[in-house]
Amino acid sequence: MLYSLTMVTKNWYSDWFDSKYYHVLYKNRGQTDAEFFIRNLITFLNPDENSHILDLGCGKGRHSKFLFDNGLKVTGLDLSENSINCAKIHETERLHFSVHDMRNVYQRDQFNFVFNLFTSFGYFNSQIQNQQVMNAVDVQLKQDGILVLDYLNAQKVRNTLVPNEIITHDGIKFNITRHISNGNVFKRIKFEVNKKTYSFEERVELLEINDFKTYLNATTLRLIHTFGGYELKEFQPEKSDRLILIAKKEK
Ligand SMILES: C[S@@+](CC[C@H](N)C(=O)[O-])C[C@H]1O[C@@H](n2cnc3c(N)ncnc32)[C@H](O)[C@@H]1O
Repeated sequence: MLYSLTMVTKNWYSDWFDSKYYHVLYKNRGQTDAEFFIRNLITFLNPDENSHILDLGCGKGRHSKFLFDNGLKVTGLDLSENSINCAKIHETERLHFSVHDMRNVYQRDQFNFVFNLFTSFGYFNSQIQNQQVMNAVDVQLKQDGILVLDYLNAQKVRNTLVPNEIITHDGIKFNITRHISNGNVFKRIKFEVNKKTYSFEERVELLEINDFKTYLNATTLRLIHTFGGYELKEFQPEKSDRLILIAKKEK
C-alpha cells in the first residue's frame, strides 16, 4: 500500500469550511441531531470506556463532545483552524482537538473507532485522494477497529435536488443554487455583507456504495453493515436520507 503526504493548498473546502459565513449559514445544524445519532451508534457499537475514538472532519466538535460526555476518549481532527479553535474550548484530558488533513496519518494503530460524519468525505474529486483517506483510516485503526462513514445518499440527492433556495440568517441573505454535473453535486452560495459580494461553492462527489466498496477493498477494512439514517434503519437507495457505512478492520 502506498502512503503519501498531502500538502494543503487552498481549495474550496479549506476556504469555505474555514469561513465565518459557513458557520452562519449552517448555524441550525443541530446538536440534537448529533446527539440522537451518537446515542444510536453507541447502542449499536457498544464501545467500552477505554475505547479511543477518532472524529475525522470533526468541525466544531459537536459529535466529539457528546462522545466524551458518554465516557469515551476522543480525538477530533479537522482541516479548519477556526473550527478547531472553537472546539478546543471544550478540551480535557480525554477530549483532544487538532488541525490535521484527513488524507494524512495522524497516529498509527491507535483508535478503536474512526467516525467520519455528516458528509466529511468526497471533496477532493480524485479517486487517488479518496483512497488516500481510506488508507489513512485503515492504518490508524487498531485490529478489529470500526469505521463509521456517514455520507449523503447519492440517488436521493439526484432525485430531490432543489435548484434554488434563499436562506436568511443573522441578517445575511444567502442565495443558493444547486446543480449536478460530472458525478458531483455543486452548491453555489452567494451573499452580500457591507456591500461586498461573496461567492463560495461546495462540491461533493455523488459516491455510491460500490465506490466505497472499491476504496474499502483496497484496505483491510470490510463492510459489515449499511444504514439509511440516524435512527439506524435499513438503507433503501430510493428513500434513505443518508448512506451510513460500518466497516471493520480485519486481518
Ligand atoms: C460538512 S462538515 C461536517 C463537520 C462535522 N463532522 C459535523 O458534523 O459538524 C465537513 C468537515 O470536513 C472538514 N474537512 C474537509 N476536508 C478535510 C480534510 N482534508 N481533512 C480534514 N478535515 C476536512 C471541513 O473543514 C468540515 O469541518
